[in-house]
Amino acid sequence: MNHPRRPLALLPTPLQRFAGMYLKRDDLTGFGLAGAKARALEYLLGDALARGADVLVTGGSPGSNFIAGAALAASVCGVECEVLVSGTAREQAPATLNMVTCSGAKVLYTGSDRAELDKLIDERVAHLRKNGRTPYGIPRGGATPVGALGFARAAEELAGQLGFDEAAVVLPVGSGASIAGLLAGREAIAARWHVYGVSVSRPLPQIRGEILALVTRIRQEAVTGWELIDATGAADDRDVRTMLAALRADGVLFDAEHGTKTLAAATRLRARTELPIVLWHTGGLPTALSLLGRAAT
Ligand SMILES: Cc1ncc(COP(=O)(O)O)c(C=O)c1O
Repeated sequence: MNHPRRPLALLPTPLQRFAGMYLKRDDLTGFGLAGAKARALEYLLGDALARGADVLVTGGSPGSNFIAGAALAASVCGVECEVLVSGTAREQAPATLNMVTCSGAKVLYTGSDRAELDKLIDERVAHLRKNGRTPYGIPRGGATPVGALGFARAAEELAGQLGFDEAAVVLPVGSGASIAGLLAGREAIAARWHVYGVSVSRPLPQIRGEILALVTRIRQEAVTGWELIDATGAADDRDVRTMLAALRADGVLFDAEHGTKTLAAATRLRARTELPIVLWHTGGLPTALSLLGRAAT
């Protein structure tokens, strides 16, 4: 792949045996709180720097792991950063938002729902450009063909670690950037993996369309051999028990938003597939800590 990449993560991340499955430890990328999002940011920052950008503009909800990673990546690369945050300022900021502020990024509250963010990012980019700046806009979650390259590269990385051809790969889905990249990367290396995306926030028809659109922009053709599992809605008490069981048995901490739901889906999948399962741990330490707080009380 000939795309500019600014290394940020400690790669390859480990692949370990875990609960009768394999666990891909992207929680261990070692870049702030970014987890797997460090992969997308390597290509997004590489592209921004190659284009001579002097300010990164992105956005997310206050709890977005992506905005925490993006602000830190901009700081490390010596680029200014503006982060549009949905809603209004709250008394107690989550760790993700504190990371944005501590990275020196400017926080701009939108006062509106997160669904508005991508449009507002575009508007902010146009405004900065009109004022003589060279902005680089990134939609929520880094969901662009460039951002997806991070997981396309991760497909090669995983193939090099697995000692077998066929597998079921299970990963959480938010914006769809990661699964789109993984599918494109899987096709590029002709890996025989069935990919299961666990949608944690967006309704399936919507996210399916967004993933297909992104994959098509990368590969110019649709891909098969993947499906989505619905895990929208807040983590419940069963999720807390799932998280605690993994922690106590194997010392692995999963987050509320993405990890526990994906772990639960992968565990259920074990009953209906003969394929070895690779569960992708994508990080999410901030909500892992709050889930721990909830479990302890
Ligand atoms: C910890 C974690 N896992 C998974 C995802 C979902 O990834 P994607 O937005 O690429 O679908 C996110 C999104 O921000 C995340 O923070």
